[in-house]
Amino acid sequence: MRKTLLCVSFGTRVETARRHITLVENALREAAPDYAFVRAFTSPTIRRILQARGETVPSLEQALAELPGGQVIVQPTHLLYGIEYDRIKQTVANWTGKLFSVALGKPLLAGTDDLQHLARALSRAYPPAEGEALVLMGHGTPHFAGVVYPALQSVFRMLGRPDIHVAAVEGWPALEDILPMLDGAAVKTVRLLPLMLVAGDHAWNDMAGDAPESWKSRLNAAGFDTRCTLQGLGELPEVRAMYCRHLRELLA
Ligand code: CO
Repeated sequence: MRKTLLCVSFGTRVETARRHITLVENALREAAPDYAFVRAFTSPTIRRILQARGETVPSLEQALAELPGGQVIVQPTHLLYGIEYDRIKQTVANWTGKLFSVALGKPLLAGTDDLQHLARALSRAYPPAEGEALVLMGHGTPHFAGVVYPALQSVFRMLGRPDIHVAAVEGWPALEDILPMLDGAAVKTVRLLPLMLVAGDHAWNDMAGDAPESWKSRLNAAGFDTRCTLQGLGELPEVRAMYCRHLRELLA
C-alpha cells in the first residue's frame, strides 16, 4: 500500500527562515524512509506570496485531495495544541474514513516530557552569560495551550536557569509581564531569541526590528543592551529529534 508522510507547517515568506522548516522536514523524511513525502502550508497569505514567486505549496486540504490513497500520516511542525492545530485536526477528521487511513501527529510541545526536553535543549544551546538574560519570544495564543509559555519558564527555573524568560508577541505573558523580573536581576544585556520553529516575520520585525514597538527597541528604551539571535527552533538538532520521536510513535 502507498504510504505518505504529509508534513504540514504554517509556512514562512522569509527566505532565510525557510531553512528552519526544511531542516525539520528532512529529519521527518529520514525517520520515515518508506513514506512518500508531501509538504503543505496552512497560511493562505504565505501560499499566495510563494505562488507569486513561482512556488506552489498546497494547503492541507489540497494536499489531501491530491493523494491517490493508501496510508497517510499528517505530521504538523506546529509548536503547541493551539488554534492552528485544532484546524488541522478538524481537516484530518473530515478526511478520516473517506479514502484512506489518516493519522495525525502531535505538535512539538505535546506533554510535560516535551517541555523538559525543549528547556534542556535551549539551556544547553544558550549557556548562561554574566549580566545577561535570555528572553524567548513565543508566538502566543488565546487557546489554553498558551499555558506552555509560563510552564516552560518554570522548567527553566527548575533547571537552575532563572536567567531565561518566556513571553509571547501576541498573547500572555507579554513583554511587560516579564520586565519586572529583568529589573530585579542585575541584567545589563538582554539576548532575544524566537521561541518559534522559524526566525520569520515576527522575529525580524516584532523582535529584532528597529521600529519603536519592537522588543529590541522597548528593551533598549528600558535601559538594556540587546543582542538578537535570529535562529528558529528548527536549527536545534534536539528539536528535530523531538518531532521525529512523535512521528515514530505513529509509525510503531
Ligand atoms: Co503571527
